[in-house]
Amino acid sequence: MADDWVFPKGELMKGKRGLVMGVANGNSIAWGIAQQLAAQGAELAFTYQGEALEKRVRPLVESIGASTMLECDATNDDELDAVFAQLEQQWGGLDFLIHSIAFSDKSELKGSFTENTTRENFLRTMDISAFSFVAAGKRASKLMKNGGAMVTLTYLGAERVLPSYNVMGVAKAALEASTRYMARDLGPSGIRVNAISAGAMRTLAIAGITGGRGLIQTGREWSLMKEDTSMEGIAGAALWLVSDLGRSTTGETVHVDAGFHAVAVPDLGGEG
Ligand SMILES: NC(=O)c1ccc[n+]([C@@H]2O[C@H](COP(=O)([O-])OP(=O)(O)OC[C@H]3O[C@@H](n4cnc5c(N)ncnc54)[C@H](O)[C@@H]3O)[C@@H](O)[C@H]2O)c1
Repeated sequence: MADDWVFPKGELMKGKRGLVMGVANGNSIAWGIAQQLAAQGAELAFTYQGEALEKRVRPLVESIGASTMLECDATNDDELDAVFAQLEQQWGGLDFLIHSIAFSDKSELKGSFTENTTRENFLRTMDISAFSFVAAGKRASKLMKNGGAMVTLTYLGAERVLPSYNVMGVAKAALEASTRYMARDLGPSGIRVNAISAGAMRTLAIAGITGGRGLIQTGREWSLMKEDTSMEGIAGAALWLVSDLGRSTTGETVHVDAGFHAVAVPDLGGEG
């Protein structure tokens, strides 16, 4: 897709207010999603992880006319409480949550999962990459008095084995299962909970995975569409899921990866 792609403008999100967690820079998936939701009229607030990132995130946030930026380490209950208390005070409610957060120790995202995974990093990876969605979702649901929608970001490594993804794949499996259990609990309140399983993208997060570039290349070469996953496609799926267009969809993991997930054996050349 051309670099000059402009996110389609419209009013699908007019009157809706949402929190976006996980923008680190202009390449972040959360930022692609935020741009699309803003272009459709959503009012957005953002969390960022620590002061160092604030400098990078602020100009992005201001470029779409938003201003609410709240510091939040997703493992810190007090900071999570403060974020949602602030949103309650400011908005009196919330319509959607975008959760786009993951972390694992780089040194364990390579080689043997069995040999390299420590208890400490296993638990930390689970905490940041899976439980943080439950923790944020629980607080967000209290503000979704008229129903709402939550979306998290996952990857194929939850379902199938990929090189280097290791403990992150285990955490993503927990994240996807959490999505379904949250959808059960919150469904009767009109709150939908879904995950987007995105193809490999050039972001900070993938730089932490040994062979991450290879995942992008293989994703392109093996995919049914023979192309990279586009930010526009991921953002479009998020728009569908958090807008009223997604009204009957919940507990779902939607693959947005140019069809990569459907392939068991790549093209072998020749016919057939
Ligand atoms: N890049 C890919 O190929 C790809 C593919 C599928 C899914 N995903 C998922 O998309 C999500 C966003 O990743 P990205 O690729 O945009 O990279 P990114 O590095 O831009 O975003 C990751 C975010 O997680 C945040 N984070 C990490 N630890 C945190 C903590 N303790 N508290 C609060 N925030 C914390 C970082 O600040 C950052 O904003 C992740 O869940 C990632 O696993 C990425």
